[in-house]
Amino acid sequence: MNIVLGITGGIAAYKAPDLVRRLREEFVTGTSLQAVSGRPIRSNLWDKEAEAAMSHIELARWADIVLIAPATAEVMARIVSGGAPDLLTTICLATEAPIALAPAMNHVMWSNPATQANRAVLEERGIHILGPGIGSQACGEEGAGRMLEPDAIAATVFSLTGGKGEGLLEGRKVVVTAGPTREAIDPVRYITNRSSGKMGYALASAAAAQGAQVILISGPVNLAEPAGVEVVKVESAEEMFTATHDAVDDADIFVAAAAVADYRPAEVVEQKIKKCEEVMTLQLARCPDILASVAALERAPFTVGFAAETENVIDYARGKLMKKKLDMIVANRVGRDCGFDRDDNAATVLWAGGEQSYPTSSKTDLARQLIELTAKHFYASRGSETQPRLTIIANKD
Ligand code: PMT
Repeated sequence: MNIVLGITGGIAAYKAPDLVRRLREEFVTGTSLQAVSGRPIRSNLWDKEAEAAMSHIELARWADIVLIAPATAEVMARIVSGGAPDLLTTICLATEAPIALAPAMNHVMWSNPATQANRAVLEERGIHILGPGIGSQACGEEGAGRMLEPDAIAATVFSLTGGKGEGLLEGRKVVVTAGPTREAIDPVRYITNRSSGKMGYALASAAAAQGAQVILISGPVNLAEPAGVEVVKVESAEEMFTATHDAVDDADIFVAAAAVADYRPAEVVEQKIKKCEEVMTLQLARCPDILASVAALERAPFTVGFAAETENVIDYARGKLMKKKLDMIVANRVGRDCGFDRDDNAATVLWAGGEQSYPTSSKTDLARQLIELTAKHFYASRGSETQPRLTIIANKD
């Protein structure tokens, strides 16, 4: 895969070496941009030597994707205007490859009507806008404008370029659930849990990167939608149940990474409950078990559950594997300092004939490995169906 990576002058540029490493981590690691990319770094349209080696037009044709990360408000405006005053914007004008921008700027600059108008124009033209994330900023303020983490950008780049006929899941349909559900108590309160959706979103991206058609059924989360994935947003377990059954009909694989509520208030009170009693009792009713219901379908997809446990992780997970009649289950420990709402995770995958453990790594890495393992078991379960072909992410050199 050939990536032209444009780095513009935002503070988030310090993340560029990590991003390059993530994009190439299948093969090399290193400490500086030049070393990790193993490619020449270019910054000048008028560099005669570099142009002689590969002209800007050749570079624009060579790219499978042009990624600008971080992308400043200035570079967004330049691309919108169609000008070509520098090498990067010239390549953007001259390329037929997809273009992705990961904006990074102060939150007021991001919400400025001029930047938002530019964003809308870029999106209309089919340019992918990755993020930005929300959180604390280099200027000390809080808001939307942080560059997405290199992991998330790399996963999106792979999913945007993955469908080139080489993915393990080419032509397959994968349905993934992610995030928490919210079970209403009254119009202003609900029961929920600490799931951020990061694990499920990473799985959806990883499946898309392997060429699958992916439907991601997501509870309420604060994450950018993964590129190349159809996202269906839901709130409650009941809504997730309906959306999942609408989607899994012709699916090959179902991955249930959502932290779905087991119980919901038996009745939703129509008006805000007033505080009168010292002790209040809330009656709960069981929510539908989405995973078990999919596994029980007559034409069930290859079904992968998750088990989130605080103790006896493997035993409880094996129990769920058998009871819910799953093909595989991913057991992960959860608590205040693991599993939920973090960028990393560790897991042990169990199936009828064995198990495989994965030590702590980023959720992006773990998701990639889980999807590879899932694809392997899926094909094994389907006997002689199409043999998977390996995705090799490599520079042509
Ligand atoms: O979202 P993150 O912050 O990234 O955190 C990731 C995670 C910890 C949420 C994820 O890795 C995970 O473990 N997801 C499953 C959480 C869960 O609900 O586990 P469980 O052991 O309670 O449920 C077992 C399985 O049944 C799960 O696949 C779950 O999706 C499914 N289930 C549960 C209840 C229900 N009513 N319907 C279901 O389908």
